[in-house]
Amino acid sequence: MPVASLRAMMTHRAARLDGLGTTVFTEMTALATRTGAINLGQGFPDVDGPAAVVEAAVAALRGGHNQYAPLPGVPALRDAVLDHQRETYGLEPEDVLITFGATEAIAAALLALCDRGDEVVVLEPYYDSYAACIAFAGARRRPVTLRPPEFRLDGDALRAAISPRARVLLLNTPHNPTGRVLDRRELDAVAAACLEHDLVCVSDEVYEHLVYDGRHLPPATLPGMAQRTLTISSVGKSFSFTGWKIGWCSGPAELVAAVRSVKQYLTFAGGTPLQHAAAAALRLNPSPLPALRDDLRARRDQLCAGLRDAGLRPLVPAATYFVNADVGTGAEAFCSALPERCGVVAIPTGAFYDDRAAAPTLVRFAFCKRSEVIAEAARRLATLRAS
Ligand SMILES: Cc1ncc(COP(=O)(O)O)c(C=O)c1O
Repeated sequence: MPVASLRAMMTHRAARLDGLGTTVFTEMTALATRTGAINLGQGFPDVDGPAAVVEAAVAALRGGHNQYAPLPGVPALRDAVLDHQRETYGLEPEDVLITFGATEAIAAALLALCDRGDEVVVLEPYYDSYAACIAFAGARRRPVTLRPPEFRLDGDALRAAISPRARVLLLNTPHNPTGRVLDRRELDAVAAACLEHDLVCVSDEVYEHLVYDGRHLPPATLPGMAQRTLTISSVGKSFSFTGWKIGWCSGPAELVAAVRSVKQYLTFAGGTPLQHAAAAALRLNPSPLPALRDDLRARRDQLCAGLRDAGLRPLVPAATYFVNADVGTGAEAFCSALPERCGVVAIPTGAFYDDRAAAPTLVRFAFCKRSEVIAEAARRLATLRAS
């Protein structure tokens, strides 16, 4: 094959793979770099997490923890996660696996649990790796749409999405990008569906500690659910170390073993010194988690106030790093023009839906930034009123 054809084929393949998720982050980050705009598109903090945790990482690096970790993860972190689940939620998972961020746990779980043609019921809008990983597993996604402004999970819509091919219910609570924390009634519907249709619940709970109003309820705590739920979380969001990519999944031994079987051929193990530091983070006493959460709550409120001042209508989120605002016009065009208009980057919420028209005028802004950055973004957004 001539090199030109090979290149064209590769370009086509890459585009097809990109199309499985959303490329909006790459596009918007490039736009932010080109225009020097404040990037409220992607959800990562602009300050590091607790210094004591960084010191623990340095100590682990200097202490010789630099070779492959065991496949299941460093024992200190596995124990810390199991203790965390017990102390925080009263859960007693049979096993735990350390992964390369929650993202690897999600990918390995879907690859482990789905056969070609199986269906994965998933809340939409969704974190963009979900659709790609479902496709990698040869499965089909059956979205259950959370509609603005309430973004509530409708039990009838959930039941309607479950066919005899359904195998996994992929849940995310607290939920990105809506900022919803599923309540007991919604989780009862999830549990009823899983029990009735014999589904495995894969529960992505990476925002478990970033809840500002209400309380996070892990699906595994519901009657009958611990035996069929794989609970996934990570150190990134909770402790403001998103670049570390240390995650985990816990649950019944057979489920965790299935995920481990896939993970061994994906990355085997990684981040040994950071696994030690993550264990230290979970063991810090007193825990820094409430202060980190309260700090983020203040920044949520600051950005919501700024959005209101700019004439936009924020849907105040109960959790996560993100607020969606109704901009009163087409969100995609609004976001494309925003960097040039006022030097801010944000993401059209529709990008997280299969059906982009589900949230045509909503835009997602990240508030996990320093207070002065949010103040400057709010000042810039306020100029929209005049333009
Ligand atoms: C819902 C959700 N799950 C998982 C992740 C990724 O977690 P990690 O960085 O631990 O892979 C994110 C990051 O944005 C997310 O929003």
